[in-house]
Amino acid sequence: VYSKLQWFNSAVLNLWRGTEGWSYNSSTYTMNWESARHWCRQHYTDMVAIQNKEEIYHLNSILPKVSGYYWIGIRKINGSWTWVGTNKTLTKEAENWADKEPNNGRNNEDCVEIYIKRGKDEGKWNDESCLKEKTALCYTEDVTSPDRASVHCSHPYGNFSYDSQCEYSCEEGYELKGSSMTRCTSTTEWSNKPPTCEQDVTSPDHASVHCSHPYGNFSYDSQCEYSCEEGYELKGSSTTRCTSTTEWSSEPPTCERDKTVIKCKPKDVTSPDHASVHCSHENFSYDSQCEYSCEEGYELKGSSTTRCTSTTEWSSKPPTCELVQCPELIKPQKGQMQCLPSMDIFSYQSTCEFMCEEGYTLRDSSSSTLFCGATGRWNHSQPTCESKTEDVTSPDHAIIHCSHPYENYSYDSQCEYSCEEGYELKGSSTTRCTSTTEWSSKPPTCELVQCQELISPQDGKMHCQHPIGRFSYQSACEFICEEGYMLQDSSSSTLFCGATGRWNHSQPTCESKTSLNLLRKTFITITSDEYFAIAPLKKTLMKTLSCTSSFKYGSKCSFSCAEGFHLQGASEISCTKAAKWSQEPPRCEGNQ
Ligand SMILES: *[C@@H]1O[C@H](CO)[C@@H](O)[C@H](O)[C@H]1NC(C)=O
Ligand SMILES: *[C@@H]1O[C@H](CO)[C@@H](O)[C@H](O)[C@H]1NC(C)=O
Ligand SMILES: *[C@@H]1O[C@H](CO)[C@@H](O)[C@H](O)[C@H]1NC(C)=O
Ligand SMILES: *[C@@H]1O[C@H](CO)[C@@H](O)[C@H](O)[C@H]1NC(C)=O
Repeated sequence: VYSKLQWFNSAVLNLWRGTEGWSYNSSTYTMNWESARHWCRQHYTDMVAIQNKEEIYHLNSILPKVSGYYWIGIRKINGSWTWVGTNKTLTKEAENWADKEPNNGRNNEDCVEIYIKRGKDEGKWNDESCLKEKTALCYTEDVTSPDRASVHCSHPYGNFSYDSQCEYSCEEGYELKGSSMTRCTSTTEWSNKPPTCEQDVTSPDHASVHCSHPYGNFSYDSQCEYSCEEGYELKGSSTTRCTSTTEWSSEPPTCERDKTVIKCKPKDVTSPDHASVHCSHENFSYDSQCEYSCEEGYELKGSSTTRCTSTTEWSSKPPTCELVQCPELIKPQKGQMQCLPSMDIFSYQSTCEFMCEEGYTLRDSSSSTLFCGATGRWNHSQPTCESKTEDVTSPDHAIIHCSHPYENYSYDSQCEYSCEEGYELKGSSTTRCTSTTEWSSKPPTCELVQCQELISPQDGKMHCQHPIGRFSYQSACEFICEEGYMLQDSSSSTLFCGATGRWNHSQPTCESKTSLNLLRKTFITITSDEYFAIAPLKKTLMKTLSCTSSFKYGSKCSFSCAEGFHLQGASEISCTKAAKWSQEPPRCEGNQ
């Protein structure tokens, strides 16, 4: 059987093991704070500086109760509580004052004591006058002792001082790895790191091992026998022997729960509220499995199954069944919402009813009541209230003006439609709300005004822009003639489709520049004087000759004869595109 760790403490008086490799030491008589600090530094490392809660707990458990308690290494310096060992100001988190402390009520309560075994506020601090006499509480940086090791030290000069020497040894069954000796050098460092103790024969969990050593510890022919704790079954070989090859004859066994005796507590699988549970075995033995399910409208939180494990514990805690929640609904703008069972519960089976203010209506009348289902969804989306004006739909490009002799959009309300510029109203321009709550006519439409389609002129080109629609309101077309030709009317180079569906000029044409010259000649030629000069008839015979101004393309001249004469030829001739008269000029001949 392995012996318990033994501490060799002959050279260390009054010594307790700390958790961090410290030894704690206290004085056997009382003294003021300054003297206590001096005493600690003289004999040990310094006054105690509290590291953490475990240390406080440890101190309270190991130190005896003394009257006046113990001084520790905190005092006020320049108005701040300071760790004297490190000269660091005490942080808020590190504070460990007793209830209502520090009060600094009287003069010079500038030093700190720790309450040990006081019954109340144990391990807490109190501020006291530094002149009071209390027990000094010191610490020494210690030689750390590894697990399963014991240490023997000798001190030729002083406690853990120059040339102090320590020797480590391991507990039975453990082998020392590292250096077994260490010495305090002149640099106040230890010459070697502490060794570790490693086990020769590993003892499995839940097992104990008994060894016999006919020759030496864990040497040839040493034999070990394993046995398992009650309720555990040994798997593997229960004995092992150290052979001549310094190997063990077999691997260590394992100890496993004897499954036949494993039972889990039935009370740990009781069904939670709104749940039911079904288990595979009534006796709740090893590997029994239980399955939970929730009532309709409840959601399972946690694990839905649990299994009885080899540790006699269930693999998971029972789940909970939580009432299914639907997303929160809100009162619509211009409307009301009423929910059951209450206005702020939106869970399974809650219902909410929606109504709209006068002049407003639910967008989809089927959604006036919503119901929260078992899956956490409402049976319809959140409804909204919309203005009834929506009923009098405003067509595109229309302007609508309504009058309401009674109430908004109610009996006898009348609406008049008109269209934006460039649009033509098709249908009825007015509608009236009749006694049957219907409108008297359907809304009209506003259609884009169209101009006549233009074509490219002969001997020219046309470029059009249609910002709204083809050859419609605001379309603009530009005309350019090919070389040698020009627009017959230069003011007509750009045409624009107006709001009434008319172009601001007639479709232009391109004329040959030469024919225009010819026309000009013709114009010169066809002066009335010249005409009559060359006419075979006497000037007097012609009663009238009237021509539209300037003998241009399209100009017309009409003739009539004086009494007693009749017109031989056309009574009207016009100037053609080819700069010729459409016919020979007529003559007036005597009526014979
Ligand atoms: C402690 O710290 C204070 C301020 O930080 C400084 O004035 C003082 O000299 C220090 N004392 C020692 C002994 O280091
Ligand atoms: C060693 O420690 C003991 C107890 O703490 C003390 O009485 C003794 O004087 C110390 N020895 C030296 C040399 O400091
Ligand atoms: C939602 O369900 C409730 C209750 O079944 C029903 O009264 C209501 O009409 C339903 N609503 C819709 C919009 O389907
Ligand atoms: C037609 O109107 C457009 C735009 O107002 C203008 O630029 C163009 O000169 C006009 N054309 C004629 C022939 O009046």
